[in-house]
Amino acid sequence: MEDMRYLTFALGKGRLADKTLKLFEKIGITCEEMKDKDTRKLIFVNEDLKLRFFLAKGPDVPTYVEYGAADIGIVGKDTILEEGRNIYEVLDLGFGKCRMCICGPKEAGELLRHHELIRVATKYPRIATDYFYNKKYQTVEIIKLNGSIELAPIVGLSEVICDIVETGSTLRENGLVVLEEVCPLSARMVVNQVSMKMENERITKLISDLKTVINEN
Ligand code: PRP
Repeated sequence: MEDMRYLTFALGKGRLADKTLKLFEKIGITCEEMKDKDTRKLIFVNEDLKLRFFLAKGPDVPTYVEYGAADIGIVGKDTILEEGRNIYEVLDLGFGKCRMCICGPKEAGELLRHHELIRVATKYPRIATDYFYNKKYQTVEIIKLNGSIELAPIVGLSEVICDIVETGSTLRENGLVVLEEVCPLSARMVVNQVSMKMENERITKLISDLKTVINEN
C-alpha cells in the first residue's frame, strides 16, 4: 500500500457525477468530501484507497484522460464520440441512457428522404458530420450551437437538429419529432492508454467489481 500511487478519476460534472459516486459506493469506494454541495474545492482525495477525484466539464474529461492527468474518466458516449480522443472505452455504466437523434418538424422527414441539402444545427458537429457524410452519404450544412438546440428549427436557423433525446419531452413541448436515430448513448468509463498497462491490476479489478454491481441492477 505504501508505494501505491494515486489513481485519478475525472468525472463529468452534474447528474453523471452523482450517479457515478452512488455506483462507486456500492463497490466500497467513497469520497465523503465530494458530497458537500457547497464546496468550491476542485479535487477530492480518499487517502485510504489512494484515489483522487475531480470534476470537469464533460467535453474536457476525455482530454484529461488522453494526456494522463486523469487515469480514468466517466463521461457520456456522446462526448467520447464528439471529442475523438485516444483513450480506451472500457465499460458501459448502464445509466444516463438516451439517444442521439436527428429531429425536426414532421415535414422535415421528406427533406431527409430526398437527400436535400439541408441545414443541421447541433452541439455535436463531429457526430452529425459522420452520420450524414459517412453513413447516409448526404451532403448537409452543419451549424454548431452550444445549447437549446431545439430552438433552431423553430426560428428557422436549420431544417433539422442532431441532438440528445432522453424522455422526448423537450421535443414534444416544441412540436418536434424524432426523424432518425443516430446511436444509443449512456455513461461510459474511459481509461488512459498508459495507465491501462501500468496500473492494469487495479484498473481491471475496478472494472470487474463495477461489472458485478451493474449486472445486479
Ligand atoms: C438535453 C438535450 C435536449 C434535452 C433532451 O439538453 O440537448 O435538449 O436534454 O431531454 P428530454 O428528451 O428528456 O427532453 P440539456 O438539458 O442538457 O441542455 P442544453 O439544451 O443546453 O444542451
